Amino acid sequence: MAANGSQFEFVSGKPIGSVLIVPLLSVPKPALNMLGQVDQLCEGAVSELLESGAIHADAGPIVHTTRAGAMHRVIVVNMGKAAELTGHKVRVAGAQAARWLMNNQVEKATLWIDDLAATDVEEACGAFASGMTLGGWSYRQFTTRNSTPPALIKVAVCGHEPSAAKQELATMRDAQMVADAANYCRSIAHQPPNVITPKTLAAEAKKLAAEHKLKLTVIDAAKAKQLGMEGLLSVGKGAADPACLIIVEYRPLPKTRTLTALVGKAITFDTGGYSIKPAANMEAMKFDKCGGCTVLGILKAAATLRLSCNLVGVIAAAENAVSAEAYKPADILRMYSGKTVEITNTDAEGRLVLADALWYAQQHLEPTRIIDFATLTGGVIVALGDACAGLMSNHDRLAEELGESGRATHERVWRLPLWDDYVDLIKGTDADLKNSSTKRHAHAIVGGIFLKQFVKSNVPWAHLDIAGVAHDDDGNSITGKGATGFGVRLMVDYLRRYAS
Ligand code: BES
Ligand code: MN
Ligand code: ZN
Repeated sequence: MAANGSQFEFVSGKPIGSVLIVPLLSVPKPALNMLGQVDQLCEGAVSELLESGAIHADAGPIVHTTRAGAMHRVIVVNMGKAAELTGHKVRVAGAQAARWLMNNQVEKATLWIDDLAATDVEEACGAFASGMTLGGWSYRQFTTRNSTPPALIKVAVCGHEPSAAKQELATMRDAQMVADAANYCRSIAHQPPNVITPKTLAAEAKKLAAEHKLKLTVIDAAKAKQLGMEGLLSVGKGAADPACLIIVEYRPLPKTRTLTALVGKAITFDTGGYSIKPAANMEAMKFDKCGGCTVLGILKAAATLRLSCNLVGVIAAAENAVSAEAYKPADILRMYSGKTVEITNTDAEGRLVLADALWYAQQHLEPTRIIDFATLTGGVIVALGDACAGLMSNHDRLAEELGESGRATHERVWRLPLWDDYVDLIKGTDADLKNSSTKRHAHAIVGGIFLKQFVKSNVPWAHLDIAGVAHDDDGNSITGKGATGFGVRLMVDYLRRYAS
């Protein structure tokens, strides 16, 4: 991998390698002036493919042909009909091209961008590079297979107008940096629970902070106890490694400007505690730290791209384990905010650690807005599946802006209500609140309404329940099976548009 962690190095100039990648629309056919030059490179292979009718709306994504010449493999990436093309479809096409390159052990390739640049899709070349970067990434830290893909694939970006190609290269590199940050998020998310604990997650954050000159503060268990964070500490009590709060700050602008707080749930493993989860698929609960990983990914993106916005990440890290020390159903906790919570289910742990993190952000950082990321409920998957994250908010404009960025990046969010009617579901018997409802009603919302009890009503706040989207177990997403990095691209778009 290159120093910046990318799988691909996009370069300008002359065609290189023996593989030519040509993203093409099936309708309309490309203009002749564009085809002329690409055909010269591959002895007419692209025209031949078009004339043969091989590239039609329902053809597969990759149409492959071989030639005797220098460019002896020609890969047409079918983008379908121009009228139906979206940024998402372009990203999918990029991901498919990347996977083809990886699977075929290609080290150098030429990407012909004319048909991409000609579409109405804004920054289509960027979307293609983003798709390539996301689709080409896989987690290989612990695999010892012999045939691994090349460490770095060089891709020459070419078109019939070299100056235009050079311009597009900048867009592509920008999109690649965002996708690299999403991949960084994915790489931490994939670390197994015997490697990533609250302590080692803090060490990861420290590495990131050192690399990008960010300010890092870790509230360790002793300090958290002093402060009275019984929510955070109780969840981590059963684990060998105690809970901690990790705070990372990126503040390129004066203090008088707005500050966005990004709060993340990082349960490094969620057994459910005494309200233990079934064994089947419990291993997926290493992804219960994805909210925290997303926050780190956003900070990395902001720092690498030098985004013009003040940011602070607050990550609540704990392992929800079972042991004699673990917290139990019926325990009553005094949270950092002072509210008391009766535990009715130790598997509803995310809201407890987040409540203390949200309160910390409000008490110590004075953010203009707070956005939290959490794999909080299985209920959000029942409600919305894996097509989008659940969005809950006390602020209409913030919710709308996140919706807009969601549509732009295809990291979509869908709003659920947080009406006071739902508060009844978490009214405590012997304490102010209980952490889970006895009814099966509105699980995702119950999670949100619990968090809302720890957010002051004058602070714009949005909660993203990413349980359905942080991790893909069917392999239908651009990123394929495993962690998706959801939220990084969404937030870079949001921060660029709305948060400077
Ligand atoms: N980490 C889980 C939520 C989750 C479930 C994430 C499936 C990804 C996939 C969370 O801590 C949890 O266990 N939530 C419970 C809450 C319930 C006990 C109120 C749930 O949703 O079942
Ligand atoms: Mn749980
Ligand atoms: Zn959890």
